[in-house]
Amino acid sequence: MQPVILAIESSCDDTAAAVLSGGHILSNVTFSQEIHAKYGGVVPELASRAHQTRIIHVVREAIDRAQIGRHQLSAIACTVGPGLMGSLLVGVSFAKGLAISLDIPLIAVHHLQAHVLSPLASVSPPEFPYLCLLVSGGHTQIVRVNGPLDQEVLGTTLDDAAGEAFDKAGKLLGLRYPAGPEIDHLSRSGRPVYAFPHPRLEGYAFSFSGIKTAIRYFLRDQTALDPDFIRNHLPDICASVQHHIVVNLLENLERAATDTGLTRMALAGGVAANSHLRQSFRDLGLRKGWQTHIPEMALSTDNAAMIGLVGHFKFLQGQWADLSVRADPRLPFMAVPASNPG
Ligand code: KG4
Ligand code: ZN
Repeated sequence: MQPVILAIESSCDDTAAAVLSGGHILSNVTFSQEIHAKYGGVVPELASRAHQTRIIHVVREAIDRAQIGRHQLSAIACTVGPGLMGSLLVGVSFAKGLAISLDIPLIAVHHLQAHVLSPLASVSPPEFPYLCLLVSGGHTQIVRVNGPLDQEVLGTTLDDAAGEAFDKAGKLLGLRYPAGPEIDHLSRSGRPVYAFPHPRLEGYAFSFSGIKTAIRYFLRDQTALDPDFIRNHLPDICASVQHHIVVNLLENLERAATDTGLTRMALAGGVAANSHLRQSFRDLGLRKGWQTHIPEMALSTDNAAMIGLVGHFKFLQGQWADLSVRADPRLPFMAVPASNPG
């Protein structure tokens, strides 16, 4: 029997639900909370309140669009971490309640392990093993994906994530949150003429907090000379910030590829929407002879279909969660929360 999984994702500011049958996505519904834009970042308290009011509608819509009845569900998969505590609690509690009422298993999913499986749902999925460059507002990692549930983090950020770097740079430039899409857009008419210091780190570690400080001082010095510097040079500043971030990301990926000998590469996470990153990733792949995989945007940004994919594979292995499983904002990568063999 192919499992039918209802998946729920609520780790940050997207309330999402999806239904998968036999690992195929029947529906994938995401409600992105707009309320945070005016605050320049996600406000945790507002996020959890918005999850609470939206989750029932999002889950209903996912089930309706999948054209299944609730009683056809085999299990409920939900994100248990990492993420914002209040946000996670809404999804986990909702999933537990529904699992109890339908008398079906609950499956606990690690948010990042789900992100790195998202390329499997693309039109041309990678075969295992592959390297995944996961770039989002909260995370920047290079993960070696040996199998659906066998993943190894090779490199991670020591401070800010790549998306955070875009957003913080955008804030200094007076752009709205999240600034990544606008920096991408403005960069198209600019050139990367300004250089920022390039961190040299051990292994495949990333560091993006330095760029924020570098930009702050750069803008302070330039606006002292020309008070309209930002307005007059915005596209070039954006292109320079974007180029800096993309070069840092791809340099590490290239080294990880050389050292591991792997040639299948995937992008995941919201920053995978960046046109310069996508193009540079594909170009590098062509030069290096890699197979490159980029999932469609609805699967790259936070979504529940990727949670359902992990749920599918865990279901096949009988990895149910105990109903006392807790949301964990700092859940370590390979931790399998309180799961019992089914
Ligand atoms: O994965 P995601 O949707 O959410 C979480 O991090 O939870 O990623 C959001 C991040 C934000 O930092 C946003 O600025 C960035 O992805 N982003 C982009 C682009 N689109 C979204 N960054 C650069 N260029 C883009 N086109
Ligand atoms: Zn995410």
